[in-house]
Amino acid sequence: MPEQLISVDRLRIGMFINLHLKWYEHPFIFSSFKIKDESQIQTLKELGLTQVGFVPEKSESQPHPPPKAPPPSSPATPSGPTASAGASRDSLMELKQERIRQLRERKRKFSACERQYDRTFVQVQNIMKSLMTGSDEVGAQSRELIHDMVGSFLAEKEIVVQLMNAKSNEEGMFYHTLNVAILAMMLGKECGLESETIENLAMGALFHDIGKSRVPKKVLLKQTALTPPEKELLQLHTRYGEEIAMRIKDFPEEALQVIRQHHETMDGKGYPHQLQGGKITIPARITAIANAYDTLCNPLNVENAMTPHEALSYMFRRQQSQFDPGILATFIRYLGVYPPGTVVGLSNELIGLVVSINPKNQLQPGLLLYDPEVSPGEAYIIDMGDDPDLKIVRSIRPSQLSPEVYQYLSPRTRINYYYDAAPPGASVGSRP
Ligand SMILES: [Fe+2]
Repeated sequence: MPEQLISVDRLRIGMFINLHLKWYEHPFIFSSFKIKDESQIQTLKELGLTQVGFVPEKSESQPHPPPKAPPPSSPATPSGPTASAGASRDSLMELKQERIRQLRERKRKFSACERQYDRTFVQVQNIMKSLMTGSDEVGAQSRELIHDMVGSFLAEKEIVVQLMNAKSNEEGMFYHTLNVAILAMMLGKECGLESETIENLAMGALFHDIGKSRVPKKVLLKQTALTPPEKELLQLHTRYGEEIAMRIKDFPEEALQVIRQHHETMDGKGYPHQLQGGKITIPARITAIANAYDTLCNPLNVENAMTPHEALSYMFRRQQSQFDPGILATFIRYLGVYPPGTVVGLSNELIGLVVSINPKNQLQPGLLLYDPEVSPGEAYIIDMGDDPDLKIVRSIRPSQLSPEVYQYLSPRTRINYYYDAAPPGASVGSRP
């Protein structure tokens, strides 16, 4: 049933309404919402509105019967509020301004995190290049990077994992390396590992696939099924990786084990040694989970990419026997049902892209909102925790989005994560 214009005098709790005002012309978070209490109706009256759009199919209640005298007919137009109503509206608009300030601050923090991610990515590239040229600096460079990352990661009780934008698609291998290291660190912390073990885990994760540098590109980049000899060649990368890493000065044994065992599976069907669960180290089990997740979200052929939501479901339903059940449960719990990178539909009919987890409540992540009233450059990043009534009702495949929503949210072709270790409310960096 289409929208109906009705008088504000007929509003009741449970009715879903459209204000038909610009976002800055009213104090509500959204321009379309379900009325939850009398104070919202009072606010709508104080705004001087005469009529609003009513959407019966999204409503839980029907409007009051029409009054005997017909209401003024101009739709959704403020009609000269009284002096007291005007004062009240002013204070509501002040609240709105405060909310806009918070939204901008959130965006600024997000941008600062992206800049830090870019810097870290360059460091990872340099380390890998040094490794290829046989430079002695690799050990010190990588230890310094890992030490800094783990230090800031452990300094805060709650870490917010955020979705990052890949600047280029050409460096897939480096993005994979960094992603696996970030996810492994996050998981190591959630599993309560000691800081030294987390450093070794991160070191191993950073170099887990380094042996692939000795596998022919033809095999690495092959998008169809590998022949048995090609498969054997690819599987040698764990042994090659171990050999390369052993040449790095003071490379920790625990990190070597990550490289050696990251394709071993708990059911004993992995490689190279078909180790049974108990023989696989905890850091290697963690890296196996981070590696599998990133590979499902960011496969060689982007057309086969799963959404983060699908990847977690797939790991849980189809690959469960391969992973440590406790660590997999921790991973899923931490990333949430809708991990960063998932496009979601909301209870108020809006669409958003999940951009960060909420460590306090995984069902209320941070979202980049699609709002045609706001330009994409100014798009809001909201914290669902600020609006407890707002719920995620479904995950949406990017291919199901309309072209304008797709362009606006630009769901990432690569799912890359980084972390914001700044305490909540801290101001980070300056606006770009
Ligand atoms: Fe690997």
